[in-house]
Amino acid sequence: MPTTDTPDHADVPEIDLTVYPDECDAFGHLNQASFLSLFERARWEMLARGPGMDVFSRMGAWPAVRRTAIDYHAAAFPGDVLRFSQALVHHGRTSFTMRQTARRVRDDALIATAEFVFVTINREGRPVPVPEEVGRSMNARPLVAGDVQRVTVNGVSLAVEVQGPADAPAVLFVHGYPLNRTMWADQLAALDGWRRIAPDLRGMGQSDAPDLGYSITTYAADLAALLDTLGVEEVVLVGLSMGGYVAFELLRRHRGRVRALVLMDTRAEPDSAEGKRARDAAAAQAREGGAKAIADQMLGRMLADGASPEALTRTRRMIEAAPVPGIVGALAAMRDRPDSAPLLPTLEGLPTLVVVGEHDALTPPDAARRMAEAIPGARVEVIPGAGHLPPVEQAEATSRILREFLNGLRTE
Ligand code: MLT
Repeated sequence: MPTTDTPDHADVPEIDLTVYPDECDAFGHLNQASFLSLFERARWEMLARGPGMDVFSRMGAWPAVRRTAIDYHAAAFPGDVLRFSQALVHHGRTSFTMRQTARRVRDDALIATAEFVFVTINREGRPVPVPEEVGRSMNARPLVAGDVQRVTVNGVSLAVEVQGPADAPAVLFVHGYPLNRTMWADQLAALDGWRRIAPDLRGMGQSDAPDLGYSITTYAADLAALLDTLGVEEVVLVGLSMGGYVAFELLRRHRGRVRALVLMDTRAEPDSAEGKRARDAAAAQAREGGAKAIADQMLGRMLADGASPEALTRTRRMIEAAPVPGIVGALAAMRDRPDSAPLLPTLEGLPTLVVVGEHDALTPPDAARRMAEAIPGARVEVIPGAGHLPPVEQAEATSRILREFLNGLRTE
């Protein structure tokens, strides 16, 4: 039997298991069946150290595996100690997806990764809710609370925060990649008098993260369906970066529903050939190293030098909370997005504000000015001291500029 060690710290469910000779094939490699049983054992160990082995049976429920995918990266041999880490990459009402990674402790080599999709069923085989303790023990984000609702659109359950009176004019906030609606927290709090609607796009934050089905068109279709469900006909549309790409698509398809537009730290041009290759490389990185690898790679470029520790922590948390299928899906969606430059001159008559952080390295101020020049009547505001994420880095200044723009619409 493999041995187990205690994890380094309680909130990271890591389990060490030793490879035994009887788990290896004639060539001495850990064989495939044993791989599967080690992944299985690591999962049960994690439950044993957390909510208890009986966490499901206490609820009269059982996790039934619906799909398994294992990627083998390197061979393991008798005596190797493998460290299994696990994360819930999707936590729905009755189903959950767990991603497990096995690394050799001696040299930190990635040995294998596995993804398991479970449905929690009762004795009759009917789907029942996943026990809350399972999510809690694995640091899953709570389902939803407070002003956050769940709305199912196009077969996917989205988390959406809605604040303000139902009869007030609406503002729809669309977050960037690989972030979530909480990047707008300060603006949602500040812009009273408006109905503030901030969804997590599919695959991000607390929204469902299906394995497939991501495109800029799908994100836009989700948002249009969300507005239908909320009974909102017309919005002021605010999109940051990838949220801007989605805003362009909404404008192409639902121009009549957009009362005014705020484009923040975004661009209209599609990816270059090199940019497309970088998307595929980032997707491979996310599959191998999870959201943390993406956070490590992006954080420095996203925020201005000298960003506050709070901004850094908040941004890192958002990125690390992004489910891997959502990250991979968003990268493909951005890679394949259409050129929105031809749309810009057609926006004549639509009140438009272009906002950009003074030190935005990803979509710099000069590019923002050029984009604004292509939109008849658009104005540009540069936010001092901010990089690519002014709503987080310079929250007050961003809220003030948005408020001024929104007030201007009331007097039109
Ligand atoms: C974002 O902030 O949404 C991304 O940086 C956009 C992109 O990578 O093109």
